[in-house]
Amino acid sequence: MSLQPLDPASLSDTADSALEREVDAMLAEGALAGTAAQFSQPRGPDLLARTAAVERWHDQRANHGLWQYARSLEGAPYPIASIRDEAGTGARGINFASQDYLSLASHPGVAEAAARALRDAGPHSAGSAVLLGNTKTSLLLEQAIAGLVQAEHVALFPTGWGAAFGAITALLQPQDHVVIDQFAHASLRQGASAATPKVAVNRHLDVDHVRQLVGAIRARDTGHGILVVTEGLFSMDSDSPDLARLQAVCHEFGATLLVDVAHDLGALGPNGGGAIEAQGMLGKIDLVMGAFSKTFSSNGGFVATASRAVKRHLQLYAGPHMFSNALSPVQAAVILECVNIVRSSEGAALRADLLRNAEGLRRLLTDEGLACMGTPSAIVPVLIGSEKVSRLVGKLLFEQSVFVNQVEFPGVPVGASRLRLQLMANHNMQQLKRAAPVIGTAVARARAAIAAGEARLQGKQGNS
Ligand SMILES: Cc1ncc(COP(=O)(O)O)c(C=O)c1O
Repeated sequence: MSLQPLDPASLSDTADSALEREVDAMLAEGALAGTAAQFSQPRGPDLLARTAAVERWHDQRANHGLWQYARSLEGAPYPIASIRDEAGTGARGINFASQDYLSLASHPGVAEAAARALRDAGPHSAGSAVLLGNTKTSLLLEQAIAGLVQAEHVALFPTGWGAAFGAITALLQPQDHVVIDQFAHASLRQGASAATPKVAVNRHLDVDHVRQLVGAIRARDTGHGILVVTEGLFSMDSDSPDLARLQAVCHEFGATLLVDVAHDLGALGPNGGGAIEAQGMLGKIDLVMGAFSKTFSSNGGFVATASRAVKRHLQLYAGPHMFSNALSPVQAAVILECVNIVRSSEGAALRADLLRNAEGLRRLLTDEGLACMGTPSAIVPVLIGSEKVSRLVGKLLFEQSVFVNQVEFPGVPVGASRLRLQLMANHNMQQLKRAAPVIGTAVARARAAIAAGEARLQGKQGNS
């Protein structure tokens, strides 16, 4: 089945009474209730059987088209895309759910680089990076990344996840400390928890809080390391910390700063150097870690450092570097070509297109009465709050062929659900103007329908 975007003006009273009935059924059956938090630590001796509760929760939601995960693309992740939900319903529409910020997945030069690499080196690296998995191209890629982030020594990883987890677990011992932003990505948080029990969480972007935590740790422990972990651009909030101040705090107390630039490298900064470049900090951050999965059209990740010894240590002790198969020659060639484009005048033009889209969409959504979080970047988070409302919005938007990621726990805290729209350089104003009123109307209808449905339910319960 294929669905077309609706004109919001065409939504009639009949449509809203149908929605009312649907919401009543959803509420009665518990399809909007609960969060993934309540199933995250199942109990009982049978490891497999105890997963049944989360599956029942899924089924309640999926029966009403409220399961937002595990959709699939029918083709490439372009601004107009064909997707299918887990139940098999297909739709073609405006795609704000893919992470291809500079639209390089559809760049002819990138496709050509992939084809050339396949022809010349085949599809397989056939080893981890330390056991003959490096290739001529991956070595060139290390140099290119070193140039982009201005840190001489680069270790590549098969995923961004592996780079984050591998770097933190390799560098820290259980006696060492981590101070990590409360909204840091799961790969960083799980790396920290796996490395040491001594993890302190700082309030989001709050450098004074970091200073207080790091200062207190240093005052009682001069013998162990402290790693401060943050992101160049937070992936659910589209905001950035003050990197110069954070690095200064680290210098003051003999701590080390790690910045994950997964979402900003290539897509922000005058020359694609991300938030670090935009803040004048290129070459000045202790550890820069990134993922190639957003702007660089491939899987993969890296850690960049000024120290050869740190790279050597990561090669030996970062599990996903040592013990996981290296980037394939095709992936390395794709990423290398993307880095070359990012650093060219064409890259600057694509970043300008992306920023124009970001500013335009934020303006259009704000005009719809929606609250866009953070600052302009490829990510436009729209705060909803209630999971019930955002789930219903996600369903309505899918039905109207506007694809957004509806995000809730574990991506964001419970009660801070949001729509995360991700832009590409190749989106155009016409698409944004078409989508914004559909999104605004969906949010308004969902809020009204849930509020009215809950009032009716309470009324019924009061009467019974
Ligand atoms: C901030 C951040 N770091 C790391 C990762 C992991 O990267 P990858 O998906 O390339 O493994 C992601 C991906 O979602 C991310 O958003």
